[in-house]
Amino acid sequence: MKNLLILGATSGISQAYLNRVADRCEKIVLVARSAEKLQQLAEHASTISDASVTTLVFDLANAEEHGKLVSTVTETMGTIDCALVSYGQLTDQARCATDPAYAMEQFNLNGTSTVSLSLHLSNQLAKQGSGSLAVIGSVAGDRGRRSNYCYGAAKSAVESFLAGLRSDMQKHKVHVLTIKPGFVDTPMTSAFKKGALWASADKVASDIDRAITKKKSVLYTPWFWRYIMLIIKCIPEFIFKKLPL
Ligand SMILES: NC(=O)c1ccc[n+]([C@@H]2O[C@H](COP(=O)([O-])OP(=O)(O)OC[C@H]3O[C@@H](n4cnc5c(N)ncnc54)[C@H](OP(=O)(O)O)[C@@H]3O)[C@@H](O)[C@H]2O)c1
Repeated sequence: MKNLLILGATSGISQAYLNRVADRCEKIVLVARSAEKLQQLAEHASTISDASVTTLVFDLANAEEHGKLVSTVTETMGTIDCALVSYGQLTDQARCATDPAYAMEQFNLNGTSTVSLSLHLSNQLAKQGSGSLAVIGSVAGDRGRRSNYCYGAAKSAVESFLAGLRSDMQKHKVHVLTIKPGFVDTPMTSAFKKGALWASADKVASDIDRAITKKKSVLYTPWFWRYIMLIIKCIPEFIFKKLPL
């Protein structure tokens, strides 16, 4: 990979991925909403890589500006070899029940804005006739659970969209990867007690690196989540709706 674009570059998973691949890149563009964090990240990237590093401050929830953003990125780096989309928030499910406006704002951030961004990016990759679009969903998208179904529904929408996009992009030789992490120890989950099922951001980044290189379609990371979610999806609804999940 020569030219890497990371959208949501300040996320724990993005930073771990950047650490892993930066020395293989010629140009890196980092997009996030915090100028200060971006500056620190760019300085760090320059210590681990000879690549030219550009930062763009952008609120990725603002879908109306996604077209301009992708044009700016393309002017900056020319060909995009890999675009990693890795941003969002863990939705407060209890608040959603009483605050539909908040639920919709979260659905936009974790769902529709990612769809918009993926469309703009895939159009650019299709023009090039090359490149990988890697988007982070979640195992939460596999089945709506009472504890986090607003977040899960947004991820589910993204993943269903990506399945179609992947098929559509085949004719343009564009690779589309859906990444489905389980529990990952990042700032997003800092309040949670960690246990045996938890993975580090570095482990997830290593799996993402391999999946992009091998042009995989769907990545469960770590691998065992594929089987955990298979079991969860097989539970009959009349039992599932009674489970405190
Ligand atoms: N951690 C997990 O257990 C887990 C599991 C499954 C999936 N995921 C997914 O993995 C991805 C990365 O999350 P993470 O675990 O690495 O958590 P994280 O470190 O908390 O990263 C979330 C990132 O999203 C950014 N962000 C939020 N709203 C944004 C906006 N409007 N515009 C631009 N950036 C925005 C945040 O920026 P600021 O730095 O400015 O706040 C932050 O960098 C997310 O899509 C998440 O849903 C995480």
